[in-house]
Amino acid sequence: MPIDFYSKLVNASGVYTFRDFVLLPGRSDIEPSKVDISTNLTKSVRLNLPLVSSPMDTVTEAEMAIALARQGGIGVIHRNMPIEEQVENAKRVKRAESFIIRDVVTITPSDRVSDAMELMQKKSISGLPVVGTDERLTGILTRRDVNFANPNESIIDVMTKEVVCAGPEVTIEEAKRLMHKQKIEKLPVIDQNKKLLGLITIKDVYSRERFPFAARDTQGRLLVGAAISPHDVDRAKALEKYVDVLVSDVAHFHNVNVLSSSKKLVKEIATDFIAGNIGTIEATKDTIDALDGRVDGIRAGVGSGSICVTSEVTKAGAPTLFAVSQIAVALQEAKMSLPIIADGGIRAAGDGALALAAGASAVMMGNVFAGCTESPGGLIKIGGKYYKPYRGMGSSGSRQRRFAMDRYNQPAKGIAEGVEGVVPYRGDVQTVVEEFSGGLRASFGYAGAISIRDLWVKAKFGAITAAGIDELRPHSIILPGEEKI
Ligand code: XMP
Repeated sequence: MPIDFYSKLVNASGVYTFRDFVLLPGRSDIEPSKVDISTNLTKSVRLNLPLVSSPMDTVTEAEMAIALARQGGIGVIHRNMPIEEQVENAKRVKRAESFIIRDVVTITPSDRVSDAMELMQKKSISGLPVVGTDERLTGILTRRDVNFANPNESIIDVMTKEVVCAGPEVTIEEAKRLMHKQKIEKLPVIDQNKKLLGLITIKDVYSRERFPFAARDTQGRLLVGAAISPHDVDRAKALEKYVDVLVSDVAHFHNVNVLSSSKKLVKEIATDFIAGNIGTIEATKDTIDALDGRVDGIRAGVGSGSICVTSEVTKAGAPTLFAVSQIAVALQEAKMSLPIIADGGIRAAGDGALALAAGASAVMMGNVFAGCTESPGGLIKIGGKYYKPYRGMGSSGSRQRRFAMDRYNQPAKGIAEGVEGVVPYRGDVQTVVEEFSGGLRASFGYAGAISIRDLWVKAKFGAITAAGIDELRPHSIILPGEEKI
């Protein structure tokens, strides 16, 4: 059978990127402030904001994940570190806030004051429930109790014995009311036999009020994801107890070895699993088939990342906007409803709106979040301006840390697939997210859509030319800082 080389070339389908389209303004009665941008990251994980930070070593560790979850999104902890360190990062996010702390640090009545002081300092906590060998709560010890006590005294002699407690069904409002009334900062939660079930702190109660849109699990803890290689079952198993979602971190998921490893992996874990990255209809079908329904979301886009040289080097790529629409089409054909996460190349809210309009449920960003205070790495001053480091996980710098090697540096590849540099410092996550979500809401307002699902239905795309791109941004004006003498 002769190969039709000519047709392959001239009948190639169009592959489009964010810069090829605009969202056409539609009939609208939507106030941007009324738009609901909450979304599903996976079949079961719900976010209040469709933003995800990339698992990259200059983007997401615990600090970024905490800050983003407080705004309603989620961070995916990178895997360019030993398993224990990645687990510790996830635990830090889970410990950052919770309505009822379940793994309470306690002390026994026969311990000494010096033991309590040491424990408080080591764990950075200011109060310890006192629990006897029968697991029943017998008192509470706060800094006030130990401050002027003799270090050799027994806890039983200095603790507060009359403890104000709450039952397991207590609501946040009841807890707050009780703590205000009794002027206490810690409220132990007990069952009818006085067995300690947990602890509520005033700090966590206030934090819930400060961040009302935070993305939380059923226990009130912040949501967090972690990146894994589908080949690394040990890492996945170590992480699954502490994260809400495991995210495949593979440049080319549509690879038979990766698919078969993923098939084995999903049988071993109970946590939600996001597959990716992929970018074609065929890859979506093969992913669904291989995982036999055990996939909860798909990461879309190959080669669009701002630090990628994959496509430049290999000429292989499925730009994010194209990838999203391919996956959306394939899922619809398969009558499956799975969240798509648009990953790579999103520079501003408008790109995010286009990705959502094309069928995505959330957008993942590296570059934008790398410029935030909460990303790893310090500020760099260049010519009077501030920057932060940013690098691809396939860059030589990242690859020198061996844990990312399997994504971009298989011996067979042996080429750098990412670059490293700096990005402008943008301020803290809250500021960046507010600006981004304001832009998204405005786009929804123009499109006449009240929610992401509504945008999928109502959005109309306009294909744009290079001349159009030039016209649709500030032109014929000299902006401050661009003056040439
Ligand atoms: P942005 O555009 O937000 O993209 O910077 C972030 C996404 O890029 C992917 N990524 C890479 N892709 N070589 C690549 O080809 C790399 O070294 C690399 N590092 C990250 C990844 O999907 C990320 O979320």
